[in-house]
Parts: sequence; C-alpha cells; structure tokens
Amino acid sequence: MSAAQQLPDILSPEFAADPYPAYAVMREEKPLIWHEATKSYIISRYEDVERVFKDKQSQFTTDNYDWQLEPVHGKTILQLSGREHAVRRALVAPAFRGSDLQEKFLPVIERNSRELIDAFRHSGSANIVGDYATRFPVNVIADMLGLDKADHARFHGWYTAVIAFLGNLSGDPEVTAAGERTRVEFAEYMIPIIRERRDSLGDDLLSTLCAAEVDGVRMSDEDIKAFCSLLLAAGGETTDKAIASILANLLVNPDQLAAVREDRSLIPAAFAETLRYTPPVHMIMRQSATEVELTGGTVPAGATVTCLIGAANRDQQRYREPDRFDIFRDDLTTTSAFSAAADHLAFALGRHFCVGALLAKAEVEVGVNQLLDAMPDLRLADGFDPVEQGVFTRGPKALPVNFTPSAA
Ligand code: HEM
Repeated sequence: MSAAQQLPDILSPEFAADPYPAYAVMREEKPLIWHEATKSYIISRYEDVERVFKDKQSQFTTDNYDWQLEPVHGKTILQLSGREHAVRRALVAPAFRGSDLQEKFLPVIERNSRELIDAFRHSGSANIVGDYATRFPVNVIADMLGLDKADHARFHGWYTAVIAFLGNLSGDPEVTAAGERTRVEFAEYMIPIIRERRDSLGDDLLSTLCAAEVDGVRMSDEDIKAFCSLLLAAGGETTDKAIASILANLLVNPDQLAAVREDRSLIPAAFAETLRYTPPVHMIMRQSATEVELTGGTVPAGATVTCLIGAANRDQQRYREPDRFDIFRDDLTTTSAFSAAADHLAFALGRHFCVGALLAKAEVEVGVNQLLDAMPDLRLADGFDPVEQGVFTRGPKALPVNFTPSAA
C-alpha cells in the first residue's frame, strides 16, 4: 500500500493525535485533495497556501465565514472586502500597534500577567495552560474593551464555544447548538453595555467603536457586538495556544530555554519559530471566486479551499529540517514575522493578515519575561511530556511545571 493510500482522514482520531506525518504525505504526494466530508479542497504546500492567502489575482473570497462564523458572531470584518473592509479594520488597528499599544495597553498587559503569576509563584508548581495561558490574553482583551473583570470566566467559555463552532469540521450538532447559544448569551450580555457606553464614553476600545463613524454613519449595536465577539475569540484562543506552545517548545529544548533565559532579546525569535513550528491556527478556509490552478490540479469556481497552515509551515521546500524547533534558524525572519511581510503563515497573509499580531507579540514578550523572572529554575513536572490537542486550533493540553517558590 502506498503512503498516499494510508493517509489518515483529517477527521480521524489518528490525525488529531499527530497530524504532522499526514501533513508530510499530503505535501509530497497529494498536494490537492478533495475532502468529501468537509466538501472542500485541502492544500498543504507552502507555495499554494501563501498564494491563496496573498490572492494577488483576486481569485478567492472569505465568504466561507458566512457559514463558519456569522451564525455565532454576526457579520464581522473577516467577511468584508475592499474599502468596507479597510475602513472597519482601521477602527481597531491603531489600538494594536504603535503608541496606543506601547503607552495605553502595555501596562494592562503587564498587570494582567503579573496578577496571574502572583497567584501561583509561591506554590512551587503550576499548570501553565490552566493557570495562565487560558486566562491571560482573554483578560487583556476584556480590559482593553473596558469590560468587567468579574465576567472574565464567562468570556473564556464563550470564545471556546465560538472556536469550536468555527472548527466543527464534522458538523457535531452539540457544538452547533453551543455556538448558537453563545450568540444569544453574548448579545444579552453585550448590547446593554454598548448602550450604556454610548452615553458615557471612556478611554477604552469599546468606546472607540461606539464613537466611530463609518462613512458618516455610526456602527450599529449589533455591528459593535459582533466586533467584540470576534476580538474575544480571535485574540483569546490563538494567543492562549501561542503562549502555552512557546513554553512547551522551550521546556522540551532546555538548551534553547537557557539561551532565552540568558538573553531575553531572543523571545521574538522563539515566538516566530513557535508560530512556524506549532501554529495556534492549523487551518483557514477560503472560497474560490473563479476556477484556479493549484499544484496537483484545478479547483472549480465556488469551491471551499482548506489551507493547512500547520502543513505549509513545515514544508521542506521552504525550511531546512522543518520538523526541528530551532530558534536560531536562518530561514525564518524574526523582524518581519509579525507583519504582513512574514515568511511563515501562522497569521495568514494578504488583506486579512492578523490585525492583532503585534498585540500577540507584546503579550508573549511580557508573559515569557515575567514567567522566567518568577520561576528562574522552571522545569516540566517530573516525567511529563507535553501532548498537543486540537485539529483546527492546536496547542498543549496541559503544561504542569515545577520551580522554586518565589515572593512577589
Ligand atoms: C498568536 C496569536 C494569533 C494568531 C496565530 C492569529 C491568527 C490569525 C489568522 C490566521 C488570521 C487570518 C484569518 C483569515 O485570513 O481568514 C487572523 C485574523 C485576525 N485576527 Fe488574529 N491571531 C492571533 C492573535 C490575535 C489577537 C491578539 C487579536 C486581537 C484581539 C487578533 C484579532 C484578529 C482579527 C480582528 C482578525 C481579522 C482581520 C481581518 O479580517 O482583516 N488576533 N488572526
């Protein structure tokens, strides 16, 4: 039997346990696969995924989000194109870069990270996933929006349900129902807050959205609610997986952890390599607007294309020894890794390139610095080997660590 015939289905438990061997076979032998269950064409080579994301010839749309996300968020910028997209994106972009990020939101990031670390630094043990990573980024976004800290646990539940809906490749009806419940609950929570905020604008991101005018027209309550829902999901789940993954990758490579501990200016390189090696989002879909030639065949107009970021980021045509985590590799550029000129695909590329990439970088830099300061001898709990979980988004299931307790 050839390797291609042995290829596990992307919905199989075998694939979920370890997709990387399957990704290698796809790249080499089946770069274009028609996948009946998801009714989509799967692509896995770097050059194909890069081409679809950059979309220089306007051959693809993001209409897939009409069914992948609109039922839970409402309509968001992910579905928009052209001027409408650019105008909406420009409303939030300044908060996630430059002086707003450095002066206004960096203190928020530092405080949220410190509060979580202070809760376990005296104890000598922690689970980096449950005690830190799943809480830190969502707390930051909630604070940026000026939402109540007491509700942070609910935000985590909501964004988990949203991401499960987005990645519900097998069409599990319980996941669909939980996503639809989340839409109702989030609207019930958010709409009254938006109405109040309109009457007493503050210095937060929600106030910016409430005051914003698009072509002389204020955004509706429903539009703002959808934007907030997207920010919580896009900024929560992804960065949570990224922080857990950078620590897992460093902990299983103690020489590289020691190098980062010694020279903290290596954190961006370690983060860029983490995004390549273990991207938080393993797949992103697109809809073909015309018939398109890709490696391995033709995709008809109107089809869904599943772009496997996790496979493309380990393409041996693009990276030397792609299955090795190496923060010193010279075929990945750290300086452009958090911009649309990136030479990895974890934030996508082109028009919808992640608007929160620099915010994610700031969170990871602050987080890793503070964790290493609080736990100078940080190590994995005895005998623990990190295991990843997830097919659409993916990251360590748990990350129990031990360290010498420290005072705040
Ligand atoms: C390591 C962390 C992150 C990863 C891996 C990530 C990944 C991505 C990807 C792959 C896309 C493109 C989706 C597409 O093209 O269909 C995207 C878009 C987006 N991301 Fe991120 N993201 C991260 C952090 C964040 C943060 C912190 C925020 C802010 C709260 C954010 C907000 C957004 C938004 C609003 C979009 C839509 C942009 C548009 O349509 O123009 N992301 N992200």
